[in-house]
Amino acid sequence: MGIKYFDEEGIFKLDTRNTSYVIGIADEEKFLGHVYYGRRLEEHRMGYLLRLGEPPFVPSKNKGDRISFMDSFPMEYPAQGVGDYREAALKVRTEGGHRACLPVYMSHEIFKGKKKIPGLPTSFGEESECSTLEITCRDALLNLTVVLSYSVFEEQDVITRHTVVGNDGQEKLYLENVSSMSLDMDNREFEALTLHGSWARERHKQRRKLGIGYQGTSSGRGESGHQNHPFMALMAAGCTQEHGEIYGVQMMYSGNFDIRTEVSQFNSVRWQAGIGTRDFCWVLVPGEKFYAPEALLTFSAEGIDGMTANYHGFIRKHVLRGKYKDKKRPILINNWEATYFEFNTEKLLNIAKQAAELGIEMLVMDDGWFGKRNLDNCSLGDWTVNEEKLPGGLSHLVEEVNKLGMKFGIWFEPEMVSPDSDLYRAHPDWAIAVPGREAGMARTQYVLDFSREEVVDCIWKQMEAVLKSANVEYVKWDMNRPLSDLGSSGLPAEKQGELAHRYMLGVYELQERLVSNFPDLLLENCSGGGARYDAGMLYYSPQIWCSDDTDAVERLAIQEGTAMIYPLSTMGAHVSDCPNHAVGRITPFETRGYVALAGTFGYELDVTRIPKEDREMIPEQVALYHKYNDLVREGDYYRLESAQDNHLFDCWQVVSKDKKESMVTWIQVLGGASRHSRNLRLKGLAPDKYYRIENEDVVLRGDSLMYAGICMPVMSGDFKGKILHLVEE
Ligand code: GLA
Repeated sequence: MGIKYFDEEGIFKLDTRNTSYVIGIADEEKFLGHVYYGRRLEEHRMGYLLRLGEPPFVPSKNKGDRISFMDSFPMEYPAQGVGDYREAALKVRTEGGHRACLPVYMSHEIFKGKKKIPGLPTSFGEESECSTLEITCRDALLNLTVVLSYSVFEEQDVITRHTVVGNDGQEKLYLENVSSMSLDMDNREFEALTLHGSWARERHKQRRKLGIGYQGTSSGRGESGHQNHPFMALMAAGCTQEHGEIYGVQMMYSGNFDIRTEVSQFNSVRWQAGIGTRDFCWVLVPGEKFYAPEALLTFSAEGIDGMTANYHGFIRKHVLRGKYKDKKRPILINNWEATYFEFNTEKLLNIAKQAAELGIEMLVMDDGWFGKRNLDNCSLGDWTVNEEKLPGGLSHLVEEVNKLGMKFGIWFEPEMVSPDSDLYRAHPDWAIAVPGREAGMARTQYVLDFSREEVVDCIWKQMEAVLKSANVEYVKWDMNRPLSDLGSSGLPAEKQGELAHRYMLGVYELQERLVSNFPDLLLENCSGGGARYDAGMLYYSPQIWCSDDTDAVERLAIQEGTAMIYPLSTMGAHVSDCPNHAVGRITPFETRGYVALAGTFGYELDVTRIPKEDREMIPEQVALYHKYNDLVREGDYYRLESAQDNHLFDCWQVVSKDKKESMVTWIQVLGGASRHSRNLRLKGLAPDKYYRIENEDVVLRGDSLMYAGICMPVMSGDFKGKILHLVEE
């Protein structure tokens, strides 16, 4: 088991294959202190790192300087108001209006396996794969218990953390922050690596050095968001793509989040990740518990590549669920960019016929099939088929599609309501809004109040009826606007601060109903492209639409950022039409295919209308998908070059687990007459195996390929791509 408690020293030691995490109990008051997290250590007697022998000494030896002690001690889970002036992981207000709180160690439990967090997406593992430490701390005055939970996944070098706060007193407690994790470390000239963007520009990397004071990334939009991402890595001085020490944290949560660092007066770093605190206040009534979402923590001494490998392995095995978890996904064609709202059964069947002949396996009918929806200004909430567009209903269309040998998928936006809809006319109070204030619209729609059970039930009944009416094998679940004007007519005044989190619990509840009642369904999440791409959503859907920007060049940065922490098998990527609808760029059809092959692969265009040469290329691309998808889904991913850094070319590689096969995708963004070939050093191969580079009649040893490299010639023109396939000789 990866968790040990050493009673004599009061030390907890959590070990994974390559990392150790050490916690200590200090002083007579039993403060819980953070001792160490990093490379694996064999020794547990590490308590000296708590600096209890240095001034200002522990309170039992120096009561007169208690505040100085509090102000520097590395609390494992710091609370507020008793002299630790750094950011608190736990902020509690009492009925009396006070905020001081100091939970100290009370007891602990160690067991094999892991518990599910009620109502929330939770990573999982067999008893042989993980073990859990639960440390119970208590503030006696407040009658408040805090259970700090750590699950250790030895194989993947991941430790998951979450917090459960319980009220066992007689008075209400108001929770103003409950971080999922807090970590105090000495600053090693850390740089924060985060992901940011906008609509159609999701998850671009950003690196910045930590300065004194606060830095962070957060969302207050009610979804994880296009703009910031629920992930941060801290890179110690000298850390690069391949080398050096890096810590990663990501939230397994899809709503508001805060991930922040605070560098203190003593150059220590306090790092916290958890639910977003803007607008948050949870009323913890006596006898109840609050469950904070899970944070996924990892450490690697092998740079960004090491962190990526840990997260990919972990998410594949311990986050993704369901029939398609490890399975190849059907190649789909989605009609959104092909037709937008202007389609009917005939048009869809024409697309499907051509697509089936070319080897495409599933037709997905996007937005516009329900209510009176011919534009994006009505009918959300009315999930009944528009028979004017689809004569004979859904079942007729699906039967015809199935006759072509294709599967069928459909689009929903369950969390939304249009003011022009029967649902809104019947229940205007079901939209999130503040009484007396006109709620702001986005895309002419309001957000449904998913904190109310009756709202979730009503949408569920409608979805269930649609899905039972025909052979639907895929759902794209969209969410096209953030939350605003937070007000719920279902909650009393003092609980309004719970709305954003209760909303997420409602979303999770509905997704859980969907996947458990339709276990064969392939669910793809989406949010105006990739605004809700997170480990929380991946617990319900094994793939997420990466971005509404389908341009092959723009996708390089988006997919690089995404693949840095999420497996390629989760990345919704399609070949789309040109000039690209989002950016107007023209790229070769072939290159669009190479870029989409890094993800789930599919098409987002009207096959009946694209140029003949492009259409003729589809069977070849389909063949490439069948050839490479096992490797892409199951292999180890490496980033070799980034066009974001060099502005000329992008390159990534996948290596099979047995190291017998590898695929290198090279995209030349800009051609150039005066450049000579580029030396490309591969990664992850077996140094002593010989590899044949397919179609190039070259056989090279793994060590030559990795340490000396191969030369990639400059191709003529922009946006050119190439796949190298290496097979053990
Ligand atoms: C969002 C999605 C698109 C498409 C449209 C439909 O923008 O990201 O893929 O489904 O909604 O309205």
